[in-house]
Amino acid sequence: MSLPWTEKYKPLKTSQVVGNDQAVSQLLNFLKGWRRDRDKKAILLHGPPGNGKTVSVYAVAKDLDLEVVEVNASDKRNLEMVQRTVGSASTMSTLFPVKGKVLLIDEVDGLSGSEDRGGVGAIISVIRNTEYPVVLTANNPWDLKFSSLRQYCEMVSFNKIRTPTIVKVLRRICDQEGIRVEEQVLEAIANNAEGDLRAAINDLQALGQNKAELTLEDVEVYSRDKMKSIFEVLAKIFKESNARAIVDEVSSTDVDYEMMMHWINENISQHMSDAKELSEAYNMISRADVFLGRIKNRQHWGLLSYVFELMSAGVSLSRTVSRPGYVKYQFPTWIRNLSRTKSIRDKLSLIGNKIGAKCHASSLEGVEYYLPYLKVIFQADPKRAAKICRFFEFEEELIEEISGDKKTYNKIMKELKS
Ligand SMILES: Nc1ncnc2c1ncn2[C@@H]1O[C@H](COP(=O)(O)OP(=O)(O)OP(=O)(O)O)[C@@H](O)[C@H]1O
Ligand SMILES: [Mg+2]
Repeated sequence: MSLPWTEKYKPLKTSQVVGNDQAVSQLLNFLKGWRRDRDKKAILLHGPPGNGKTVSVYAVAKDLDLEVVEVNASDKRNLEMVQRTVGSASTMSTLFPVKGKVLLIDEVDGLSGSEDRGGVGAIISVIRNTEYPVVLTANNPWDLKFSSLRQYCEMVSFNKIRTPTIVKVLRRICDQEGIRVEEQVLEAIANNAEGDLRAAINDLQALGQNKAELTLEDVEVYSRDKMKSIFEVLAKIFKESNARAIVDEVSSTDVDYEMMMHWINENISQHMSDAKELSEAYNMISRADVFLGRIKNRQHWGLLSYVFELMSAGVSLSRTVSRPGYVKYQFPTWIRNLSRTKSIRDKLSLIGNKIGAKCHASSLEGVEYYLPYLKVIFQADPKRAAKICRFFEFEEELIEEISGDKKTYNKIMKELKS
């Protein structure tokens, strides 16, 4: 395994972060002008994955000569310890000349369910007592459980990275790696990433590593090959019993290991039926998942081999008998469901965000409490509906979604244009 290109080419200085200029400079100003008596002592960077939230924190801190102290949001003991130590910073600094610090609480929306209510509370109390600026990141900060946390934070939105910008980054990497490639190939990869620069760079590495030239055909073949190699890996895991061979197969595949894990997880129940086998296999996959989480949180890429071993040989050796005959491999259900409902979920969450922003509510509250009334008004009174659309700044696509039917939508659009 070589270093992931997302690591190798990650920005080390603010000037190397692409896109989201305004958001990045807001972060810079926040850290520059931070004082312990300011109103909002934390800043929350939010937006879709892979657009530079985490790397911006490190890059900006580096430019300002601040040390980033990363705090694990889902570890309550860790938070309590931080809370005890952040308060004492100013007394410390009179004894030792210490470098300024930034507390980074990354991916707060990883906190799940009710048991973490304490987690959110602990974060708030860290913010209230801190002697240092606090930066939080989240993909979706509009969840109900964050409504009180948001009041302590300056909110900064990081948007998707635009395709031409992604192409530029990919081009630079290809130049450095000595890969010849045409513009349209990079455009295809960039387009497919839908604003996620991390995904684009990962795809480029999977496709182009150790190659002198990358063609459009490679891109097309890649997606077909990817399916083929997923099935090969699954066949090894569920039929083979030589541990070494299984691990080799998994670690040599091009498939993203997280994706592979979902495939293995989905197919365990197809190939094993004995309760003991099943429990052992799920135990293995869950341990692999724990390791993967650690790798992602702490960038300990050396642990990757454990992930491979647990999810491949670990799962495979849980099997005591081999089921004869052909078994169909199952496409991970959650991926299928996600893509089926994605566009509706996207629209609802946009509507929720827009309502929430004007009504000081969360996105969820926007959808649950306000949207039903809007639907009634849209049906009954196109004139008023048009006013509402202007107020919330709904785009046509969202107006269509709220209208529910074409006739209502047309009436409202007519009002809007008049
Ligand atoms: N704006 C950017 N400029 C330069 N590189 C970027 C940018 N965004 C992402 N990258 C690349 O993608 C990798 C992942 O970015 P980063 O960890 O900052 O994403 P993120 O926004 O924090 O995503 P998540 O929401 O999943 O935590 C970086 O290491 C870097 O290689
Ligand atoms: Mg991040």
